[in-house]
Amino acid sequence: MPDTQLMDKLVSLAKRRGFIFQSSEIYGGVGSVWDYGPLGVELKKNLKERWWRSMVYERDDIEGLDAAILMHPRVWEASGHVEGFTDPLVDCRTCKARFRADQLDQGQCPQKPSKKPGEAEQCNLTEPRMFNLMFRTFMGPVEDDASVVYLRPETAQGIYVNYLNVMQAARQKPPFGIAQIGKAFRNEITPGNFIFRTREFEQMEMQFFVKPGEDERWFEEWKERRMQWHRDVGITPDKLRFHEHASEELAHYAKKAFDIEYEFPFGWQEFEGIHNRTDFDLKRHMEYSGKKLEYVDTATKERYVPYIIETSLGADRLALVVLVDAYREEEVEGEQRVVLGLKPAIAPIKAGVFPLVKKDGMPEVAQRICDDLRSRFPIFYDDGGSIGRRYRRQDEAGTPFGITVDGQTLEDQTVTVRDRDSLVQERVSADRLVGYLEERLTS
Ligand code: GAP
Repeated sequence: MPDTQLMDKLVSLAKRRGFIFQSSEIYGGVGSVWDYGPLGVELKKNLKERWWRSMVYERDDIEGLDAAILMHPRVWEASGHVEGFTDPLVDCRTCKARFRADQLDQGQCPQKPSKKPGEAEQCNLTEPRMFNLMFRTFMGPVEDDASVVYLRPETAQGIYVNYLNVMQAARQKPPFGIAQIGKAFRNEITPGNFIFRTREFEQMEMQFFVKPGEDERWFEEWKERRMQWHRDVGITPDKLRFHEHASEELAHYAKKAFDIEYEFPFGWQEFEGIHNRTDFDLKRHMEYSGKKLEYVDTATKERYVPYIIETSLGADRLALVVLVDAYREEEVEGEQRVVLGLKPAIAPIKAGVFPLVKKDGMPEVAQRICDDLRSRFPIFYDDGGSIGRRYRRQDEAGTPFGITVDGQTLEDQTVTVRDRDSLVQERVSADRLVGYLEERLTS
């Protein structure tokens, strides 16, 4: 059974604490598009930086790229998206709702939610028709067929059309990879589940170019590496699993594909895909552009079109995994609290600073401590309400440390540091705080 209550609580916490807001809310919202607030933008940035570090900075065989969203329309003909990036769509003539014909068993009749679309007496579904998921727009002032361009539905193609540029400029040769983080757009028929399936989202994709014949070994290597990366982010291992695509599930470009799935409150679902795309994309771009996209080994004169192993992770879907996984409700000190148990390294705010007393020298001392820390980490200064309430607010925000500045601070320049999870409080000298936090924020 889907735990809709948990999702409702999470959506409400995300809004209350400033993680995620509905887009254009004052106009009634726009379907399945979301905005990231002050904490959400930090959380997503931390996840993206962690991914970029592991892909680009910690390896000498992967280079970074930031290709444009708008590309030559022939790219999408070559990639197969113009012809084949479609879902079957049905309309209900009675209630005007739209559904994916291949997912009716997962849907709900809006008029009779206990029934699936098409099952209730009043349902009157049309025959399925194919619907292309790419957003189309026009380049330049004239809106005709010759000026059609698409918002990219995946970031991968920007890497393929640049692969020779990057390989030559960075003096790489296979096996090597190109990593990119950027927006992608899909006009999904049935978006939903908060930020799980949206029409505008971000992808973190890495394309690894290898010699044909070495592809299967590299596929296994990347599959295991990516799973380990998610464990290292702190996601509960029991809630992660692989799902291998059966032949009828495979995308048009893939020879083999594994999803990394998470057990969401609405069931097991994919949030990263690892694909063996063979030489499909590069060969198609050779055919459509007329350009040679081979790798030529100058020493051995060997030439080949590389195979591509792709790792494709949604930044928003990963943020949802991390939020769902971190959410917990518990009783402490006789009170109910909601906590986001985020790993310190990805938490949006690293510490809250709470002045406790109104005495001479306060709040200046607390402000000074806060300013010292601010130049190193995102810090939140809070002097409003009881200390219990201040702790609770930061627990909900996932802030790992709470620093209280009290009467004793004025006498001996020490503060109390409270650990969000263990609730242990330690007295630490104010001038050691930066080092104390640094040690604990790397994990
Ligand atoms: N380049 C390959 C590719 O795009 P995909 O399985 O279609 O493969 C990869 O997408 C990842 O992108 C998914 O696992 C998911 O995390 C994210 N993603 C795809 N469609 C999405 C959507 N409508 N909303 C949010 N994330 C999406």
